[in-house]
Amino acid sequence: MRVLVAGASGVVGRPLVGALRARGHRVSALVRDASRAPEADEVVVADALDRSSVLTAVSAARPEVVVHQLSALSLLGDDPAEAFARTARLRTEGTRHLVEAVRACGARRLVAQSIAFAAAPAGPDVLDEHAPLYLDAPDPGWAATVRAVAVLEELVQGVQGVVLRYGALYGPGTVYARAGGTGQRVLAGRLPLPSGGAGVTSFLHVEDAVGAAVRAVESEAFGVFHVTDDEPAAAVQWLPHYAKALGAPAPRVVPEALAPRLLGWFTAHQLTAARGADNSRASVTLGWRPRRPSWREGLGEE
Ligand SMILES: NC(=O)c1ccc[n+]([C@@H]2O[C@H](COP(=O)([O-])OP(=O)(O)OC[C@H]3O[C@@H](n4cnc5c(N)ncnc54)[C@H](OP(=O)(O)O)[C@@H]3O)[C@@H](O)[C@H]2O)c1
Repeated sequence: MRVLVAGASGVVGRPLVGALRARGHRVSALVRDASRAPEADEVVVADALDRSSVLTAVSAARPEVVVHQLSALSLLGDDPAEAFARTARLRTEGTRHLVEAVRACGARRLVAQSIAFAAAPAGPDVLDEHAPLYLDAPDPGWAATVRAVAVLEELVQGVQGVVLRYGALYGPGTVYARAGGTGQRVLAGRLPLPSGGAGVTSFLHVEDAVGAAVRAVESEAFGVFHVTDDEPAAAVQWLPHYAKALGAPAPRVVPEALAPRLLGWFTAHQLTAARGADNSRASVTLGWRPRRPSWREGLGEE
């Protein structure tokens, strides 16, 4: 198949281009800077926030399937506010441009990256895809992120596309890698555990994010899927394990009430209140299973 990957220079996009080519697909890598392009059958250059450059680049590639792996989260370490604001624009404006391009060139499928940790923290510890999104989160930054996620998901479903809600990505190049933002924070003893540590995280190794995207490209299924490992874990389980795997000091325990001030709103939410994601639908409908079913097998080891 002819597949175009937008975000082809990213942590997921780069190995995805290689994995698709290994399966015999003809891959066009859409990048904004040709010098950062991975090895591909073709490289097309466009800024995803520039409508006409996206339409021109996608129509030149004539893909049957378009994959959207755009984010600006690599800026998290330097400028978190800009990372979230730019990513929100990529999820709204960037997705709109790709949807328009998909329609214009007659591609039959759009596969897009979303997140599995945008649900409102209500009900059971582990939620399926029907759970309401946290659109009214008390933190304005997170509420804006979740609203952008909702726009992306609606736009993608409008063209009968596939939304892959990735769990918290770990592995090479991610924030959980030793050199990543969270890895460095834990190594420096600066990520304490709020007492109870009841917030649940569903993790996903980068290799499995790639595998699910390949599966989605080749599948006839459409809709929204949690793409997460099989072991949603409370912070009280995973954070000490992760620190140990990194060779970091055991996280100190702080009162839950102090967590937002000490950790920032989002991290406090993740460690105290967030819900995990049930991946049954991806298994049953998409036929995808994680090759790394548990974060215990690699979180903190790369
Ligand atoms: N589920 C999760 O936990 C989750 C989800 C997303 C991201 N993350 C975190 O974010 C980091 C990277 O993951 P990722 O693969 O999603 O992101 P990434 O590595 O930053 O890749 C994003 C891609 O989007 C491209 N891009 C950004 N702005 C663009 C624009 N205006 N026009 C065209 N292309 C543009 C980037 O190109 P350039 O190379 O030119 O920048 C890059 O190819 C990791 O640290 C990961 O932990 C986590």
